[in-house]
Amino acid sequence: MMEKLLEVKHVKKYFEIGKKQFLKAVDDLTFDIYKGETFGLVGESGCGKSTAGRLMMGIYTPTEGQILYGGKDIHVLNERERFLMKRNVQMIFQDPYASLNPRSTVREILAEPLEVHGIFKNKREELERIYELLEEVGLNREHAGRYPHEFSGGQRQRIG
Ligand SMILES: Nc1ncnc2c1ncn2[C@@H]1O[C@H](COP(=O)(O)OP(=O)(O)OP(=O)(O)O)[C@@H](O)[C@H]1O
Ligand SMILES: [Mg+2]
Repeated sequence: MMEKLLEVKHVKKYFEIGKKQFLKAVDDLTFDIYKGETFGLVGESGCGKSTAGRLMMGIYTPTEGQILYGGKDIHVLNERERFLMKRNVQMIFQDPYASLNPRSTVREILAEPLEVHGIFKNKREELERIYELLEEVGLNREHAGRYPHEFSGGQRQRIG
């Protein structure tokens, strides 16, 4: 049987926008995500996708409903459990040029989460893993020393 990773159960997020006035950003959202599954959430602008994402990351607390990760309600995790969950649940932002630190090299950017989570005991192992990750996505170790703008896709085209 497929393993359920994330369960979103009747989740609501209402923002108070005035005296007793609420904006229903997410209103009764329910779905499951299974291990190995790619799950897409599509909808018009303002329908609540980003709010749903922030709820699933634990950044927002639901007004109502529950979000379970590995069977555990993510809003009742203690600090340690929340920290461990973040090894597995992370945001990837749409625009790398806006979300990556332009003053950090690719190696520094990739090293930071590995160091925060204490994944490797020494720098050599960490660097090997960084090279391996670059190769996994079709880059190579020479790219580790580059800054985010030093890629051929780096000349962003402005639309409009
Ligand atoms: N912190 C907030 N306080 C008040 N209202 C909010 C807040 N965050 C989002 N909203 C409102 O909640 C609704 C859903 O917003 P959300 O950003 O989740 O939509 P979205 O589906 O991600 O849109 P887009 O496709 O444009 O990114 C919108 O009406 C938005 O204005
Ligand atoms: Mg959005």
